Amino acid sequence: MYVILLGLPGAGKGTQAAHLTKTTGLAHVTTGELFRENIRLGSELGKKAQPYVEQGLLVPDELTIGMLLERISQPDCAAGCMLDGFPRNLDQARALDEALARGGRTIDRAVYIKVPTDELVRRLAGRWNCPKCGAVYHERDRPPKSPGICDNCGAELYQREDDRSEVVRTRLEVNLAQVEPLLEHYRQKGKLVEIEGAGEVDAVGEELTAILASS
Ligand code: AP5
Repeated sequence: MYVILLGLPGAGKGTQAAHLTKTTGLAHVTTGELFRENIRLGSELGKKAQPYVEQGLLVPDELTIGMLLERISQPDCAAGCMLDGFPRNLDQARALDEALARGGRTIDRAVYIKVPTDELVRRLAGRWNCPKCGAVYHERDRPPKSPGICDNCGAELYQREDDRSEVVRTRLEVNLAQVEPLLEHYRQKGKLVEIEGAGEVDAVGEELTAILASS
């Protein structure tokens, strides 16, 4: 099963994908994390992507699409995966459709997690991430048991550079400009489901689980 989680920055894509990959066994493929890993490693791709990620702009398609297609060609994605952060525009969506079609595969479901902008800003301002296992926390809503320490693996949590308020503003504008054509692409294919993402994490997770079970 190939599932896409769509949503503006802070909608809860990563939070929900982390849970769903445990319950479904699907690999979690996140382009944002792939870029951050390449930046940490100082790879050529990371060097090229870094200025875009730091400013909250989309990394050019010629870098993003190749990276994503290479990732989903790995054995852990052979039976499907959960895509988080890709596609973000129509050209990416079409490239993904074509690549899957070459292998006789297709997207099964695209789920758009809708959250009001003021709530997105609030969430990103309070987010803390684990650099080791990828767990996501919120200082008020989902605090770790010990402040600054990951519950799962004990690593020291950090706040993403692109969660600074001025970069968040750009990320929201950039993603808002792209989202409607992307939704229409999956709507026309009969693949799109839209859900309210402003509720509790567990409630949103239950709705997503039910959607995937019926897909
Ligand atoms: P990426 O890392 O994908 O960032 P994003 O899309 O901006 O998404 P986020 O990771 O910020 O949010 P999320 O929806 O996963 O929310 P989360 O679950 O963490 O991309 C980073 C950058 O990489 C981009 O800006 C771009 O430069 C580049 N890039 C990536 N993909 C690209 C592509 N395809 N093309 C070009 N460039 C690309 O939750 C957020 C917070 O809210 C957490 O604190 C969490 O605890 C909390 N929370 C979650 N759900 C709830 C809830 N229901 N109630 C209360 N709090 C909640």
